[in-house]
Amino acid sequence: MAAKEKILIIGSQGQIGTELLEHLRKLYGLDNVVASDVKELSREELSSCGIYETLNILDAKRLHEIVKKHTIKQVYLLAALLSATAEKNPGFAWELNMNGLFNVLDMAKEGLLSKIYWPSSIAAFGSTTPKQNTPQFTIMEPNTVYGISKQAGERWCEYYFNKYKVDVRSLRYPGLISWKSAPGGGTTDYAIHIFHEAIKTGSYNCFLSENTVLPMMYMPDAIKATVNIMQADASKIKIRSSYNLAGFSFSPREIANEIKKHIPSFKITYTPDFRQAIADSWPQSIDDSKAQADWDWKPIFDLEKVTIDMLTNLRNQKD
Ligand code: SER
Repeated sequence: MAAKEKILIIGSQGQIGTELLEHLRKLYGLDNVVASDVKELSREELSSCGIYETLNILDAKRLHEIVKKHTIKQVYLLAALLSATAEKNPGFAWELNMNGLFNVLDMAKEGLLSKIYWPSSIAAFGSTTPKQNTPQFTIMEPNTVYGISKQAGERWCEYYFNKYKVDVRSLRYPGLISWKSAPGGGTTDYAIHIFHEAIKTGSYNCFLSENTVLPMMYMPDAIKATVNIMQADASKIKIRSSYNLAGFSFSPREIANEIKKHIPSFKITYTPDFRQAIADSWPQSIDDSKAQADWDWKPIFDLEKVTIDMLTNLRNQKD
């Protein structure tokens, strides 16, 4: 980057925000990355959190204040309601996911920001999308509120780029697996809960059925992709809606078998709930050749490596 451009992370206390904040501060320096979240932090949390601002992304006035106060030039907008939570509160999910995005896009349109990162998701696809090796450009008829908000968001990002030259960049994240921070209300969260429960109780009751294959990615790869797309020269970003991004795919049965290699007594049971229908509408694997070609994307982790890393880190965290 233009090394001194200041960054604001919106949603810094969430699953992605926590790790992205840590990573960007290492890259660009503590004072160049401002954290913000809707969460009011305690005095103790504040003392160890670096520069932090409380921000409800629906409050455009407060967003302006923060951007001005810290001379922010780049925004990573991670605040959103995920798929499962959004189904329980569709009106609010739509408002938060869309108006939050507009508040940031409009600041860039006014010339106040130079670059924006906004995540899309595999949820932007739907049950009429080809499920295997889902292409970058394909049928997209999402049937969850979250997915509809991501698909609409993609269209708006491209529109702001074409119409107003807003430099907005985006990735369609698969399910993200991480140990540093808890996931928040997604359908792919089972792939994190399963590790916690394997260590804690030796068994897991999965809310998806055993053969439900979904595309997933380990958080370090997601952070790497996010930083790579944001650092890439603008001329390399040929897709301004959102890039397909792939790690690896597996089913609950397959991840359970991988865990059994390390915890032989591990038991999994299946009690699918409303999240099964969400998972069934999503792709099983993703073709990310455009990301590979345009800005040299390549993931590092596969299921075997992730299983070892998750179990090791969660055990250390517990000790
Ligand atoms: N991981 C998200 C979810 O399950 C998908 O982007 O909602």
